[in-house]
Amino acid sequence: MEKLYFKTRAFGPFVLSLQDIKPHLLVPNLSEAELVKSVREISAKFTVKRDHINDYVREEKMVSAYASFYLPTNIPKLHFLLSKLSEEVLEDLIHRPLIDSGCGPGTFSLGWSLLFEKVPPEIVAIDSSRLMLDQAERILQGFFPKINLKTTQKFNEKKSNSVLLFGHSINEMGIHKAQDQIMMIDPEYVLWIEPGTSDLFKDLIKLRENLLESYEILYPCPSSAKCPSQWCHQVLRTSHNLEIERLSQLVSLDRKTLPINTAVFKRKRIANKSLNNAVITRYIKETKFSFEYEVCFLENGQNKNVSIEIYKKQLSKDAEKFFKNSDVGERIEFEVEKVIGEKLRVLLK
Ligand SMILES: C[S@@+](CC[C@H](N)C(=O)[O-])C[C@H]1O[C@@H](n2cnc3c(N)ncnc32)[C@H](O)[C@@H]1O
Repeated sequence: MEKLYFKTRAFGPFVLSLQDIKPHLLVPNLSEAELVKSVREISAKFTVKRDHINDYVREEKMVSAYASFYLPTNIPKLHFLLSKLSEEVLEDLIHRPLIDSGCGPGTFSLGWSLLFEKVPPEIVAIDSSRLMLDQAERILQGFFPKINLKTTQKFNEKKSNSVLLFGHSINEMGIHKAQDQIMMIDPEYVLWIEPGTSDLFKDLIKLRENLLESYEILYPCPSSAKCPSQWCHQVLRTSHNLEIERLSQLVSLDRKTLPINTAVFKRKRIANKSLNNAVITRYIKETKFSFEYEVCFLENGQNKNVSIEIYKKQLSKDAEKFFKNSDVGERIEFEVEKVIGEKLRVLLK
């Protein structure tokens, strides 16, 4: 078995210096004064000027300042989260494609590769800002020239074997977009590392509830039962490289005590994946992506009515035409792919 970084060394802070990042910045020659001014502006957008939260991603100088200060001080949050997972889960994560949603300058794709001391077989870095993606490419290819990296502003593909990670991005895109992305990609794991504010917690708890229809939670909750908390978060205490600590003093931002909300979900295993014979008993609706029916099938010796969802992606043109015109009473055979509340998403055989 491969040795993992955080298992082979003491659980301490992961230290990345400004000098490590500087050669890969879009603007590599920012003076300390420029850096301080830019980081102050970015920080104000994250806190008091939240209407302008997306502005910093549109200027090369600001993107470089973000990468200089937030990238090295955010990576310890990933270190913290991974260190809470079992060896079995880590072993599983390391071999999967990583989708870094709202990747910014590539913070957590870099962190992932450094912490595991191995790049994932594939990284899909998604960000609505092309400049951030350019910055992520430079940094990731700078550290790992052979990396299998795709950068994109939109990703509308299913990738069921992947790990989908949100890093301070649900905070910007909102839970609805995040949930749409999860539904579309349908990953094996969902991880988030988000600010530990009480406002965001109110949204994240809703996303948690929705995810629990198809996923179980591995961290931080002891079970997938309802959350009793008004404001659950973790507080990470860490330290950084001296140059970065000096920078955080100059910008008056504490990056040693970091309130975060982190979570790890894994897709629920379907207990009964056997083939089911069913009869369509009712047409429910057709959406852009799917057909929905009520079907009757035999389960544990009893006939049972359930709603099923058939994704169009799996259908040939002829099969799609068939479902567009089908009547009730048709026979189908399916395997359950996913349980979504009372509904089953199925694969036709
Ligand atoms: C605070 S940065 C986080 C960057 C990086 N993940 C990190 O943790 O350091 C948030 C990123 O989310 C991106 N973002 C915001 N809304 C988005 C959306 N709807 N789709 C994709 N990316 C988005 C922004 O462009 C920005 O780069």
